[in-house]
Amino acid sequence: MAETKRVTVPAIRAMKRAQRVGMITAYDFPGAKIADAAGADIILVGDSLGMVVLGYPDTLSVTVEDMIHHTRAVARGAQRALIVGDMPYLSYHVSVEESVRNAGQFIRAGAQAVKIEGGKPQRIRTIEAILDAEIPVMGHIGLTPQSVNVVGGFKLQGKNSDDARRLIAEAAALDAAGCFSIVLECVPAELAAMITERVSVPTIGIGAGPACDGQVLVFHDLLGMYDQLSPKFVRRYANIGEQMREAISHYLDDVRTGRFPNATNESFHMSGNEELKKLYGQAVVVAMPKVN
Ligand code: KIV
Repeated sequence: MAETKRVTVPAIRAMKRAQRVGMITAYDFPGAKIADAAGADIILVGDSLGMVVLGYPDTLSVTVEDMIHHTRAVARGAQRALIVGDMPYLSYHVSVEESVRNAGQFIRAGAQAVKIEGGKPQRIRTIEAILDAEIPVMGHIGLTPQSVNVVGGFKLQGKNSDDARRLIAEAAALDAAGCFSIVLECVPAELAAMITERVSVPTIGIGAGPACDGQVLVFHDLLGMYDQLSPKFVRRYANIGEQMREAISHYLDDVRTGRFPNATNESFHMSGNEELKKLYGQAVVVAMPKVN
């Protein structure tokens, strides 16, 4: 069988102004397989897994170990998409050296790049050191969920001109540092368009309007499998959560009424009456339960 060619970091850079980048998160083997087969350019193993998979109220409890465990599963499922590992809270905040080591763990787990939130000078130094270790970095500015306690909630960023100017400067710094793409989360569409126009790498929007070079959505949001939060920028393409609930309830009903499993094609049988006779010492008819 021919080997599938993986989307590369240079290929993503080359998509700027040529082709929109389609990115989605995934956290496990089946999710990654499905996203890959659907043709995602980038699969992000997002720390949003803390909320949509692990049930925390925010992303702050997610550890490097959690992320590595899920990155390994995604890497087993996705053969084509570029896999980006999201560095969780406190994995790149303590020291540059620790940040590089943590970033390296993602590469060893099967990711081809990492994502880091923020664009202040200290963060830029960390990103440069990670790049220096030959690890491609995706930037992420605007609403950075790991700063939820500082900004006071999951809120639109860059609303006023001062804040917008700060984000424009951060985007320029991430671009100059060598990030291969920049996620813009929850910022006004006008600001995202301005940043997209000014940086040399693809911007990937989530709640940042249509002018970005690409878009990303969280797997569970897009498919209707997470209803704790529903920001207005999420478009639900399916209601899989409801379909799953209905299917499981149907199964439980069948178990309780004896309709599952049936005695024919969903069960195994001893071959011929001879073996049954040996087992019971006489010819028997084993009664199967009646279906209500
Ligand atoms: O963790 C995540 O899923 C993300 C995306 C929303 C960009 O950071």
